[in-house]
Amino acid sequence: HEKGVNCIDYYSGGDKPYLISGADDRLVKIWDYQNKTCVQTLEGHAQNVSCVSFHPELPIIITGSEDGTVRIWHSSTYRLESTLNYGMERVWCVASLRGSNNVALGYDEGSIIVKLGREEPAMSMDANGKIIWAKHSEVQQANLKAMGDAEIKDGERLPLAVKDMGSCEIYPQTIQHNPNGRFVVVCGDGEYIIYTAMALRNKSFGSAQEFVWAHDSSEYAIRESNSVVKIFKNFKEKKSFKPDFGAEGIYGGFLLGVRSVNGLAFYDWENTELIRRIEIQPKHIFWSDSGELVCIATEESFFILKYLSEKVASAQETHEGVTEDGIEDAFEVLGEIQEIVKTGLWVGDCFIYTSSVNRLNYYVGGEIVTIAHLDRTMYLLGYIPKDNRLYLGDKELNIVSYSLLVSVLEYQTAVMRRDFGMADKVLPTIPKEQRTRVAHFLEKQGFKQQALAVSTDPEHRFELALQLGELKIAYQLAVEAESEQKWKQLAELAISKCQFGLAQECLHHAQDYGGLLLLATASGNANMVNKLAEGAEKDGKNNVAFMSYFLQGKLDSCLELLIKTGRLPEAAFLARTYLPSQVSRVVKLWRESLSKVNQKAAESLADPTEYENLFPGLKEAFVVEEYVKQSLADLRPAREYPLVTPNEERNLLEEAKGFEPSGVMASQAPLETEKHNGCEDVTLELLREILEDNHQGLGGCSEGLLAFFVYLLLLNFDNLFH
Ligand SMILES: *[C@@H]1O[C@H](CO)[C@@H](O)[C@H](O)[C@H]1NC(C)=O
Ligand SMILES: *[C@@H]1O[C@H](CO)[C@@H](O)[C@H](O)[C@H]1NC(C)=O
Ligand SMILES: *[C@@H]1O[C@H](CO)[C@@H](O)[C@H](O)[C@H]1NC(C)=O
Repeated sequence: HEKGVNCIDYYSGGDKPYLISGADDRLVKIWDYQNKTCVQTLEGHAQNVSCVSFHPELPIIITGSEDGTVRIWHSSTYRLESTLNYGMERVWCVASLRGSNNVALGYDEGSIIVKLGREEPAMSMDANGKIIWAKHSEVQQANLKAMGDAEIKDGERLPLAVKDMGSCEIYPQTIQHNPNGRFVVVCGDGEYIIYTAMALRNKSFGSAQEFVWAHDSSEYAIRESNSVVKIFKNFKEKKSFKPDFGAEGIYGGFLLGVRSVNGLAFYDWENTELIRRIEIQPKHIFWSDSGELVCIATEESFFILKYLSEKVASAQETHEGVTEDGIEDAFEVLGEIQEIVKTGLWVGDCFIYTSSVNRLNYYVGGEIVTIAHLDRTMYLLGYIPKDNRLYLGDKELNIVSYSLLVSVLEYQTAVMRRDFGMADKVLPTIPKEQRTRVAHFLEKQGFKQQALAVSTDPEHRFELALQLGELKIAYQLAVEAESEQKWKQLAELAISKCQFGLAQECLHHAQDYGGLLLLATASGNANMVNKLAEGAEKDGKNNVAFMSYFLQGKLDSCLELLIKTGRLPEAAFLARTYLPSQVSRVVKLWRESLSKVNQKAAESLADPTEYENLFPGLKEAFVVEEYVKQSLADLRPAREYPLVTPNEERNLLEEAKGFEPSGVMASQAPLETEKHNGCEDVTLELLREILEDNHQGLGGCSEGLLAFFVYLLLLNFDNLFH
């Protein structure tokens, strides 16, 4: 250097004895410190050079200067790759973080961190589990098969034996197997080399900005510049073409994708005819093996499209529906998901991907299933169906795997294709513990019947049975679960299906006394009301018990219930209204009870029988009570309802005139009740039969019901029985 040297750095690789220096003569020099000669001089900085650095991993040299720029040079060709100018005045220092692409730069006015180069490791796996990767410019291979039967745990680093395959003439930025796995292409520094995957012998090479394999293993395309794309077949150039709006990126697979400012254009590999132009800026494109589905991933989300090859073929023939943007019906959008895909692949109709938030997910039929939450950025390598495992690699070239059952994926694929024959064949291979997951999938796809058949989770099955109206299955599940909640739900369904017998049983199990009361009264079943009254009283459901007794005219029972439950004021008022003969007894009890809290208040309670002058008509009331007792015990069938005089229109005092209470008549009453109850049972039985005959649908059921009630109201028994 002709002026003062400001900075110096060792080359950190072991292969060259080099130093780098920067000086006020504005030059950067590379030295061989063994023979003490200058190997190279890097010219370009316009002011004193203040910092120099060999990047510890990437093949680059980074230099900074008082001219305010940072320059990136290739470390073997010494070509200037890039000049960074962030307008923060003079550069003073640079540092690279090992194991990452982060480089920190220090300026007069602050410091910043930049990311250099590709994050994604140069790594590829073929269908048999052979993985090839580049460590700097060394190419290495690892074989999953060589692991033997070692037990593999999800997310744990696999103990792989690594084999060196030789070094590559270029610094590999990407490595990619072709579809049949016979070749790998290595790209970097604007060059590509195609090697045999087995022995890494070069087969073809050239310069290219980008390289992509076609679906057909013998074909590939390169992007030569921002305007020219070339297609090769069997390593010979087949076609060179200039896409209409230029070529900023290309994508391989079933169709050749070309990205430009104008969006994405898909071309036919065969004749480079435009298939379809789509207004989207893709980052990645992933085609399914069948070529029927494609995922287009952008910076914000990803789209799943269906490729309609038949429509394309017919449009190519008839030229109908072909515009300047290609064939209108070539694709159908199946879904958009607001997630950023980093790497992805298809297994059948399931799209497996890693996302920007380090989730390992798969998409099938509009649904996202999470396989794992990753603790760092991982890149999908492939899926090996035989292992039921998914393989991923990270930047440090560690390989991990996650289990993912091929039977589940196959089953879901069959369902998406509505191929239930295939689905049924696959089902027995799905382990029991995975069945419910599959069943949830079926349910979401709208196949509830199938979901019910597949699910092994009683909760899920019960839900499905309810939704499907499968009363028998739901009943069985409710019996097994002995859950009140389930009985309640089933009762509701049974009622909506007019299965009143079942509903009654369910309500009993659910101890839903309110529901039972409603059912019993609505069906006019006096026996049921009676049983309910007794059961409810026993279980302390006093309101229901009271109501049930009251509806049956069993006023004595109502009174006893009130007394028993300490509702003495209410009992007194009930007696005063309906059972005057009991007033004395109840008031006495009330007084006794009240005197314990308030003697004065207790004393002020008057017994009507002691103060007849204050309670006129008491005697007549006793007679009426006796008179009414008979008609109360007389439970008349519902059909007589239109013939019954409403209570508010009756004058009981008038009616009871001349009535002579008699023990004989009173004892006859229960007999009559029996008779009516018998009649009720016949009608209810009939009702059940009609309903069961019509149980196919609520429509039919309610029509039958309607007719029945009309006949019932008309007392037209001929038609009724008919
Ligand atoms: C010094 O070694 C370098 C290789 O590191 C070689 O290119 C150069 O010719 C050598 N110079 C002399 C003077 O021997
Ligand atoms: C470069 O270094 C010289 C001393 O060699 C100094 O005088 C000059 O100011 C420096 N240039 C800048 C832009 O700082
Ligand atoms: C390809 O291989 C041949 C011989 O094996 C070698 O001479 C040539 O440099 C290689 N070219 C590339 C680009 O690797």
